[in-house]
Amino acid sequence: MRKQIAAANWKMNCTYQQGEKLLDDILKADLKPALHHEVIFAVPFPYLIMAKSLVSDESSFNISAQNCHHKKSGAYTGEVAGEMLHSIGIKYCLVGHSERREYFQETSQQLAEKIDILLENHITPIFCCGEPLPVRESNNQNTHVEAQIKESLFHLSADTMLNIVIAYEPIWAIGTGKTASTAQAQEMHAHIRSVLTAKYGSEVAEQISILYGGSVKPSNAVEIFGSKDVDGGLVGGASLVAADFIDIIKALK
Ligand code: 13P
Repeated sequence: MRKQIAAANWKMNCTYQQGEKLLDDILKADLKPALHHEVIFAVPFPYLIMAKSLVSDESSFNISAQNCHHKKSGAYTGEVAGEMLHSIGIKYCLVGHSERREYFQETSQQLAEKIDILLENHITPIFCCGEPLPVRESNNQNTHVEAQIKESLFHLSADTMLNIVIAYEPIWAIGTGKTASTAQAQEMHAHIRSVLTAKYGSEVAEQISILYGGSVKPSNAVEIFGSKDVDGGLVGGASLVAADFIDIIKALK
């Protein structure tokens, strides 16, 4: 079975102390996820080491960065390099979250460079894609997401592609309380898998985890994660409440 993933994206929330308590409360639930389950916390840079040390005894818990710079190293004041993340043992990094594409004008080309930098540093990119509302309203979401995937990922070989996790996050569902319907999520996930199949073959495409993100909550997680091509979720708001994220982890199939 493909890896099923519950990933928390804390975004720019929580003080150090609040983050420590949140993680602690989740770990106290003693969840013992199945072998094909993985729980990931994408935390702000200053908390990476603390978070990594808190989950160090849990085999299926991992820590992710929320971003890295697209250049290897150098005079980029305030930025964080892939090799820095590698040097502290970080295994995942979000790439191309819609908030970064929108507020920091990240381009597909830069995202492709970030993907390469991360893979060189043995870090699994969690590549985010998704359409804004006007694109959904004009029914062009499939072409939009397909272009995002082609532009930032299709330079990879089939072997390398196996090290990518994809997160489909329709922008109109992020932080809005408006979730894509289970049918809409499944339809897009199946489309993404067909795009991957066309380029890399079904053996590769069937192994790639595709997460859904956008107002995932305990009340909708079981149904959304239950869809054939949905392999868990990337969760914002509900990942900041221990009891909610615990229930979301339990909703993995
Ligand atoms: P919400 O779960 O708050 O809608 O955020 C989703 C998201 O952007 C996760 O990366």
